[in-house]
Amino acid sequence: MLSFSFRNGDRLPALGLGTWKSAPGAVYAAVKEALAMGYRHIDCAPIYQNEPEVGRAIAEAIEAGMVARGDLWLTSKLWNNAHAPEQVRPALEKTLADLRTDSLDLYLIHWPVAFKPGVLFARKSEEFVPLPDQPIIETWKAMEACVAAGLVRHIGVCNFSLAKLDALCRQAATIRPEMNQIELHPYLQQRTMLDFCKENDILVTAFSPLGSGDRPAAMKKSDEPTLLDNPVIVQLAAKHGATPAQVLLAWGLGRRTVVIPKSVHPDRMRQNLAATGVQLDDRDRATIAALDRGFRFVDGSFFTGPGSPYTLATIWDE
Ligand code: A2P
Repeated sequence: MLSFSFRNGDRLPALGLGTWKSAPGAVYAAVKEALAMGYRHIDCAPIYQNEPEVGRAIAEAIEAGMVARGDLWLTSKLWNNAHAPEQVRPALEKTLADLRTDSLDLYLIHWPVAFKPGVLFARKSEEFVPLPDQPIIETWKAMEACVAAGLVRHIGVCNFSLAKLDALCRQAATIRPEMNQIELHPYLQQRTMLDFCKENDILVTAFSPLGSGDRPAAMKKSDEPTLLDNPVIVQLAAKHGATPAQVLLAWGLGRRTVVIPKSVHPDRMRQNLAATGVQLDDRDRATIAALDRGFRFVDGSFFTGPGSPYTLATIWDE
């Protein structure tokens, strides 16, 4: 399995199983199948509301001797309602209990957006905490303390703009962010971000690498483009005797980004894992480069309703 290296030499499998939108009831079987077919990296988060099931599948696979914990990479994320420093460790401990493990390989701040403790999804102004009132650096220090306590090996962020990532790199006391997990696919290529991360030794994970067609309807725009049936991608798939999903994943891996395609179907999971064997050439890459249109499938507008202190401009610094 292709893997990428952290600053201390720890290696992260470059293709993992995404679990966002994997329903309880389906995710248990999906994770077990994934581990059986060779996935060694599972991307989780408490807001996906399925960590207990993911944890049961992992525990049973370890118990059955299918995989050793030391050969498995587990990532999870701090939800928006636990940015207050005293909330960070309890939130991590809940995830550890749900995933049935003593420590995580990677723990990420899920969004640069804060809610009041106990609020699962803020809708009213009093349920939000503006970032200036709960600075990311304070949350980050609590994340660093979790590393010191041995509860997590690596820490990073998700959905951070270049400005926010740069600011955190400058402020971080002992550990500079080691990962930014962001939306990446041919319609949102984020080359400047990739260059910045490379220069600063920050790994990048691409979420929604297949365009996240199974997002809730409320998160979709009526005229949004689809990725899997883009004619350029379909044509490249035919050229390589691959599937469109494999082309999208091979493209992400070739850019040295981790990819975490979500599926709950064994045939697709197997297909996605095999994308590590698809090699695109320079001409293919140039063709895909031309597809960039700065389009976000997950644009954060669900945090910007009436009364919210957050706007798309403050989230993305654009
Ligand atoms: P399913 O889970 O039913 O297999 P993303 O990773 O970008 O969020 O995309 C996930 C979506 O892509 C899900 O709807 C998932 O469906 C679908 N999907 C995953 N793998 C493939 C594949 N190889 N071919 C087509 N669709 C796929």
